[in-house]
Amino acid sequence: MTTQTPQNSEHFVNPTRSPTRVAVVCASVRDGRVCPSIADWVVTTLEHTSGVEIDVIDLAQITLPDDSQLYPGGGPESEVAARIDAAGAFVFVTPEYNHSYPASLKRLIDWHYSEWKLKPASIVAYGVQGGYSAIEHLRGVLAELNMVTTRRCLGLPAPWLSLDDADRYVPGESVTERLKLSLAELDWWAGVLTDARADRSFPN
Ligand SMILES: Cc1cc2nc3c(=O)[nH]c(=O)nc-3n(C[C@H](O)[C@H](O)[C@H](O)COP(=O)(O)O)c2cc1C
Repeated sequence: MTTQTPQNSEHFVNPTRSPTRVAVVCASVRDGRVCPSIADWVVTTLEHTSGVEIDVIDLAQITLPDDSQLYPGGGPESEVAARIDAAGAFVFVTPEYNHSYPASLKRLIDWHYSEWKLKPASIVAYGVQGGYSAIEHLRGVLAELNMVTTRRCLGLPAPWLSLDDADRYVPGESVTERLKLSLAELDWWAGVLTDARADRSFPN
């Protein structure tokens, strides 16, 4: 018997599925942070994609419970648990701090468990050199949560040099094209995993 590889994603994605809710996580909580400018650029790019609802989870706007109450896979329900649960895909917009991603993002991840499971994520990282260490550290952590990370993730070197007078991030066109490709990959995985979560049990 021969096995044929489908030529395009329509073979996998259920065309009747409802719009994918994409949570864009703005990971920096620092005063004077550049993160919202980059998250806005991601949102604007996503807004041109059909079949997508967007929820921006800005970590500076939420308060997670005290870490003394944390235990594996649970804890008191956080104020964003339902929003993470409702999302079918994530874009983590994160700076690089000391060769990794910030503690604020690790806390968001650790305070949730089933809400992340079997969902896809893409990463837009930035830093002096481009934030690639943050990307690689985050990939390993997301795999532990049974998440799939897109192969294409973006590293932006010194994006603060590309802000306009209104603090909008205005990169070259090729950078936005790279983002679109990673979002297309994310959408593909969102379709596949939404169907899989509904149809197939996952080994515990
Ligand atoms: C505590 C701290 C550590 C940093 N470490 C790194 C680093 O390891 N690599 C890097 O490329 N940039 C590093 N930076 C520079 C940040 O990437 C840069 O300040 C960026 O603007 C931070 O994002 P934010 O403004 O959204 O918080 C560091 C910044 C801070 C505040």
